Amino acid sequence: MSFHSTVSPIRFENNQLKLLDQRYLPARLDDLVCDTLEQAAQAITDLVVRGAPAIGITAAYGVYLGYLQAQQDVTYDFEQALTRLRNARPTAVNLAWAVQQQQQLLTKNVGLSPAAMAEKLLDNAQAIHQQDLQDNIAMGDFGAALIEAGSRVLTHCNAGALATAGYGTALGVIRSAWSQQRLERVYASETRPWLQGLRLTAWELAHDEIPVTLIVEGAASSLFALQMIDWVIVGADRICANGDVVNKVGTANLAILARHYGVKVMVAAPLNTIDMATESGDLVEIETRAASEILAQNYAGNDYVSAWNPVFDVTPAALVSAIVTEKGVVLQPDSAKMQALFD
Ligand code: MRU
Repeated sequence: MSFHSTVSPIRFENNQLKLLDQRYLPARLDDLVCDTLEQAAQAITDLVVRGAPAIGITAAYGVYLGYLQAQQDVTYDFEQALTRLRNARPTAVNLAWAVQQQQQLLTKNVGLSPAAMAEKLLDNAQAIHQQDLQDNIAMGDFGAALIEAGSRVLTHCNAGALATAGYGTALGVIRSAWSQQRLERVYASETRPWLQGLRLTAWELAHDEIPVTLIVEGAASSLFALQMIDWVIVGADRICANGDVVNKVGTANLAILARHYGVKVMVAAPLNTIDMATESGDLVEIETRAASEILAQNYAGNDYVSAWNPVFDVTPAALVSAIVTEKGVVLQPDSAKMQALFD
């Protein structure tokens, strides 16, 4: 049994990509409308849409929009535009994966009429979109089955409906576990500096009437020390061939704490978040965003105060109890078990 979220961050209607603008949640529910590949790429860079699966879906529609632009303007450099889209953010592998899916379609179908090719690209984007929702629901049920009744769980950042096609990876597991009455309490860390936990996770859980208790990230250790957590449940932006997990900065801190206090760590992510071409987490480019996201107005122009703003970190596979995918669960991941998922 699954508990369905009614939040949907991405819609494609009348040849327009409509993104729920996550920069303004929960204060405003505004759509940002994209008519071009460049607008879709900029929306990804600017965090209008964020979360690994959601940016992959956005990119798939972006390729379709770019193809239409190329048909209308012979001077349009489609290849360069695809590179811009692929590089809109560097860490979540779903973005490159989705662009590659569309590029493979273009290569395989050379010779098709532009109208037929456009239809194929749109169908494929819609299939990626719909498949993500189904994968989330499957992950939700696999993950929930691992959770004992009466559990208290802590999640980090937002790996929910807003980060995906509409159910969530980590929050999908939490939704399913909640609907099966396995959860006593859900905690969410606020997730600085963009506050995805505070602004997005708490909002969408409340929207679905799932109670949530927020903590500042610095409070996590106290929560573990007081034995108030049974599972840490997070999503992933990329999982490497050896099971290392790249996710929102602060995830590794929680996994280290969890190991210290004997708490289990679950990572929920679809197979298209697994990057078998990258052996381990140290090889992944970690996005560093502007210092101004931390400093805000406080120190503008002050030469003595700076900020370092990496937005992801690497949790070693050895600290992960379970990786949950749509194909099943990998307990204590390692290279052989990750490979087995694809055999
Ligand atoms: O910078 P963001 O908001 O795009 O980062 C997203 C995350 O890191 C999420 O926590 C998530 O686990 C990956 S997407 C389901």
